Amino acid sequence: MKIVISAGPTRESIDTVRFISNRSSGKMGYALASAAAESGMEVVLISGPVTLPPPPGNIELIKVETAAQMAIAVKTAATNADIVIMSAAVADYRPLNALPGKLKKSSGNLVIEFERTEDILASLGEIKRPGQILCGFAAETDNLISNAKEKLSRKNLDWIIANDIGKPGQGFAGDRNAVTMLSANGQLIELALADKAIIAQQIIAEITSK
Ligand code: CTP
Repeated sequence: MKIVISAGPTRESIDTVRFISNRSSGKMGYALASAAAESGMEVVLISGPVTLPPPPGNIELIKVETAAQMAIAVKTAATNADIVIMSAAVADYRPLNALPGKLKKSSGNLVIEFERTEDILASLGEIKRPGQILCGFAAETDNLISNAKEKLSRKNLDWIIANDIGKPGQGFAGDRNAVTMLSANGQLIELALADKAIIAQQIIAEITSK
C-alpha cells in the first residue's frame, strides 16, 4: 500500500532574499509518515522547509519550497497512491511579482500584491481514482466542525482532520495535538490530547481500517 503525505509550510518569495511563510513545524506530517512506515506502507513524504531530521524507516523524502513545487511533487506521487494525506500548511497566496534581486527600502509603506496558489487538495479531489483515500486537515480558530465539514465535501475528501489551533498546547508548533476526525460517510472520531506520534498512529489506524 502506497501513501503520500505532505508536511510543513511552504515559502513564497517576495524577492531573492525574503519570503512569506507560516508557523507550521511539520511535526504532525513527519509523525504520520513514521506511523505509516511502522505499519508497513510504502511512504512518500513531501516536505516544505522544516528543521526536523528525516524520519527513520523506509520513507522517500522529497523536499520542496513553494506551493507550486509542492503541487507538482504531490500530484506526481499521488497518481499511483492508495492514500494521500495533505498535512502541509500550503500558502494560499504568493506575491504576484517576486522581484529579482533585493528590494530596496524607501520612506513610505510597502504594498505587495498577492495571487492565489493552487489548492492542491481540491485538485486531488477532482482527479481522485475510485478507491483512493484522500485526507485533508482543517486548522481552524472558529466553528471547527462546521468549517471542517464544509471542506470535506467541497474538496471531495474521504477524511478531514479538524484541528482547533485556537487552544493552547495543541496544533501548529507543539509536540502534542488533539483532533477530531470526520469522514465522508459520517463518522466523527475524537482523538484526545496526546503526543503527535500517538495521534498519528490513531489517524493511520482509522484511515486504513476498512
Ligand atoms: N491545502 C492545499 N493547497 C492549498 C491550501 C491548502 O492542498 N493551496 C490543503 C492543506 O494541506 C489542508 C487543507 O487544504 O489539508 C486546508 O484547507 P484550506 O481550505 O486551504 O484551509 P485554510 O487555508 O485554513 O482555509 P480557509 O482560509 O478557508 O480557512
